[in-house]
Amino acid sequence: MIIEDGKIIGFDGIVDIKEHPRRQTIKKGNKFYVYPIDKEGIERKWRYARQSVEQIKHLLRVKKTAKGYEIEIGKDFGSYRTVWIDKKYDANENGSKLVKQITGVDFPYPKSIFTVKDCISTIIGNKKSALVLDFFAGSATTGHAVLELNKEDGGNRKFILCTNNEVNGIEKELREKGLSEKEIQEYGICRKITYSRLEKVIKGYKKNGNGEKVDGLGGNLQYFRTDLIKDTKNKDQMRIDLTEKCTEMLCVKENIFNFKIEKEDYKIFISNKGDKFLCVYYNLFDESFKEFLKEIKKLTGEKKIYMFSINGTTDKKLFASVKDCIIEEIPQKIIEIYKQLVKLNIPAKADTIFLEFDE
Ligand SMILES: C[S@@+](CC[C@H](N)C(=O)[O-])C[C@H]1O[C@@H](n2cnc3c(N)ncnc32)[C@H](O)[C@@H]1O
Repeated sequence: MIIEDGKIIGFDGIVDIKEHPRRQTIKKGNKFYVYPIDKEGIERKWRYARQSVEQIKHLLRVKKTAKGYEIEIGKDFGSYRTVWIDKKYDANENGSKLVKQITGVDFPYPKSIFTVKDCISTIIGNKKSALVLDFFAGSATTGHAVLELNKEDGGNRKFILCTNNEVNGIEKELREKGLSEKEIQEYGICRKITYSRLEKVIKGYKKNGNGEKVDGLGGNLQYFRTDLIKDTKNKDQMRIDLTEKCTEMLCVKENIFNFKIEKEDYKIFISNKGDKFLCVYYNLFDESFKEFLKEIKKLTGEKKIYMFSINGTTDKKLFASVKDCIIEEIPQKIIEIYKQLVKLNIPAKADTIFLEFDE
């Protein structure tokens, strides 16, 4: 192991069998090379093999000794206790009060942000590009915890949170006050807490609206609303509607969000690094397809092409001259998922697309 300024900066290769380092720590310039030699001078071996040690680097700690350095594998980092009693896990102080300070809303029983942050950190503390999912996001503690982790170690972890927009029992009161159903939705958890909390912790906020300023953690946030498509007698029209509505979901799936070209019949998106493209064609073959093809050919990098298709097939030969591309049909993929939901007996109203496609 190589140490500089009291930190592990790297791992040397495996020492040749004929080589015998003189001491456990050997200084070379500003760097210290540490070998697995015990206090009696006996050559041992590291607990982790050279090829796997990089993955547990975050668990290692450097300890200064009289003769050099020792490497410890931190107990608190290597395994976790069953019961966490630190006062930072107090759900009142770092849950309810925190949510109130950020959003101004009294929300019952959110978890302490530290509970969620430490849980997530056990799994992805060393995975700086991890994707975290929470499909019952509620007060968005998970999202907030991921943003905090990123801020701490410069990570680029992402999260996808889903939540309903439940109004927590005050619907009746709001209706009696004369609010419309649309206005009542504004009091739902997603609008009032989930989204609002994330937006504020990203951009920064004042505690309780007018108190101490808290700096933003930075990050990006996109908000999508899901819905089912209404049934119509015209099944082709339904496929067209579904295709039109699914674009954002394709962006999430491919992690490509930036518009490059937006035309009536097609859209092309480019990744942040500019090396990947999402190309969606919404029409049946038309004059605009030639134009679409011409634009795609100009792109250098991986291309994911989604083609609208009534019968779920596309003639792949049409793209023979396009390099580096994968072609998928829409909305067929989405319909297949809907069908699985029907098989799983997930309830759907009679006027939704679910049942119609299953027939
Ligand atoms: C216990 S809370 C979530 C706590 C959160 N995951 C955390 O770690 O702090 C559960 C939340 O799930 C949301 N929820 C309930 N039913 C849902 C559904 N069908 N789809 C999405 N979210 C739902 C509710 O808004 C509720 O606040």
